[in-house]
Amino acid sequence: MIYLDNAATTKVDKRVLSVMKQYFTKKYGNASSQHLFGQEVKKDLEESRSIIAKSIGARSEEIIFTSGGTESNNLALKGLFFANKDKKRHIITTKIEHDCVLNSCKWLEKQGVKVTYLNVDREGFVNLDELKKAITKDTLLVSIIHGNNEIGTIQNLEAIGKICKENDILFHTDACQSYTKVPINVKKQNLDLVTLNAHKIHGPKGVGALYIRNGIKIVPLAHGGGHERNIRSGTENVAGIVGFAKAVELAKNKHIKHMEKLRDRLIKGILKIENTKLNGPIGKRRLCNNVNICFNDIEGEAIVGYLDSKGIYVSTGSACSSHTLEPSHVLLALGLSALEANSSIRLSLSRENTKEEIDKVLEVLPKIVKKLRKISPFK
Ligand SMILES: Cc1ncc(COP(=O)(O)O)c(C=O)c1O
Repeated sequence: MIYLDNAATTKVDKRVLSVMKQYFTKKYGNASSQHLFGQEVKKDLEESRSIIAKSIGARSEEIIFTSGGTESNNLALKGLFFANKDKKRHIITTKIEHDCVLNSCKWLEKQGVKVTYLNVDREGFVNLDELKKAITKDTLLVSIIHGNNEIGTIQNLEAIGKICKENDILFHTDACQSYTKVPINVKKQNLDLVTLNAHKIHGPKGVGALYIRNGIKIVPLAHGGGHERNIRSGTENVAGIVGFAKAVELAKNKHIKHMEKLRDRLIKGILKIENTKLNGPIGKRRLCNNVNICFNDIEGEAIVGYLDSKGIYVSTGSACSSHTLEPSHVLLALGLSALEANSSIRLSLSRENTKEEIDKVLEVLPKIVKKLRKISPFK
């Protein structure tokens, strides 16, 4: 098989699995226990926290472990709202966020929060002037995705962070797709909250983190024994957390270069097919592992199905919204018509993909497109 759906999730690296195993049957103590058996586990937990903190220029105590990106985004937005609801009630986000941010915002609107959803340009970039104009005295938070999960657009966090700082507004980013692929430095980029997860970087599913800058008050969503600085109660998933940190340690710059090369080979090859168009930007402003192409006149779903039958796994967009038949909200925000959005597919790479796999896709895909175009009712 050829797996090109790494933006949905990645294979756990064997070295990650190998460090995780011991926490199930050997070091299975509770990190909150007083005894040595528990405290040894606590030590490993804190070491992992330190690795993740360092990777984004943060302090250890600013990292809270969660069950993943969805929880971290919910905690950031709702936790901040509950902590400030008598002061400020305006949030600025974009039309191209992951569903867990958009649906949290929709829920917050029902609680009386005003939410501004910024437009993006044809490549998916936020307009900084539009952001400045959206700011009001009531603005509490700006939440903007770093690397987009569907089209790979990388926002300029530093420029956005500067605007937030000048206006005394908190800044959150969802960095699930960009983590370890694009540099993140919470000080340089003036970030107050950052969402991270493990399963996009060859770590386990069900583990994530939220960076919360020291001094920022977040009201917990789950109450319990006071774990994670009283912000996220519940016995820590130590195996997952240690695996997460190992995955971070294993991510190297050479992998980015490898994926960039494969990405550009794939884009160049696919665009040779007549009547195709790249969604999102090209080059350094695009995630190294993302390819998203509009094939015009044929259904993306049909291409995905035909590739599937050849053992090539890709997607029409975000795995979370793939159960709906609605066109992607991200592609619509770029200005694509519903028909164009539904004619698009996403191919997302990992460090494990090879040039041979890409060439195989480039051999198979044009034939599928030709076949589907022949029977297309849209032509
Ligand atoms: C940008 C983005 N944010 C959040 C999530 C949700 O993360 P998780 O699956 O860890 O809950 C994902 C992945 O599905 C994502 O791509």
